[in-house]
Amino acid sequence: MEIRIRLATEDDAQAVHDIYGAYVPLDYVTFTIDNPSVESYREKIVHTLEKYPFLIAEDESGKVLGYTYGSPLRPHDAYQWNVEWTIVLSPDAPRRQGIASALYEEFAKLLAKQGYMYVYGVLVDNNAASIALHKSLGFTEVGHFENAGFKLGKWRGIIWMVKKIGDTESKIHAPYKLSDI
Ligand SMILES: CC(C)(COP(=O)(O)OP(=O)(O)OC[C@H]1O[C@@H](n2cnc3c(N)ncnc32)[C@H](O)[C@@H]1OP(=O)(O)O)[C@@H](O)C(=O)NCCC(=O)NCCS
Repeated sequence: MEIRIRLATEDDAQAVHDIYGAYVPLDYVTFTIDNPSVESYREKIVHTLEKYPFLIAEDESGKVLGYTYGSPLRPHDAYQWNVEWTIVLSPDAPRRQGIASALYEEFAKLLAKQGYMYVYGVLVDNNAASIALHKSLGFTEVGHFENAGFKLGKWRGIIWMVKKIGDTESKIHAPYKLSDI
């Protein structure tokens, strides 16, 4: 299968909504309990692209296989060089074929050009595939928060993982907009 990676557009909102929605009723991918509307995903894509990559992986026919995007780690200004990373493949997309890794490599390349320093993964602690993916990409675990969320009748923990992608010794500048690189 040939995989194409491109920037998301507003027209991807429905696919992103449907892919994410498939995991919302489960316990190991997300703490979201109600899937937001397609319109809110449309706004999220537009808003995200102002500062971070929002990328789509698709097959030869244009079917969306997965997506990835960045978001702020914390709201305060001094955190602006950190990015929280989200990656989700469609439930019927092939696994262990390198799709998530390819999305990450493109994502991290753009972030590094923009001047971001660290990428963080925030994972439910029983998501074995995601933990393995992060480790294979060179992330290291920096925190385990027990009982961070309550979903489907149980307290669930999260793990924070981090990877350095920038040079903290270089001259500092505010991260460039995606449209400027
Ligand atoms: C987690 C997820 C993104 C992985 O996508 P993927 O395209 O299958 O991952 P890759 O093929 O790039 O895997 C790269 C490496 O990660 C590790 N890995 C990925 N999935 C794994 C699994 N199920 N079990 C063990 N290791 C795994 C392996 O080291 C793999 O390399 P290898 O196949 O050569 O051994 C995908 O399973 C998914 O979307 N799951 C549901 C949503 C989700 O959990 N998102 C993350 C939320 S934090």
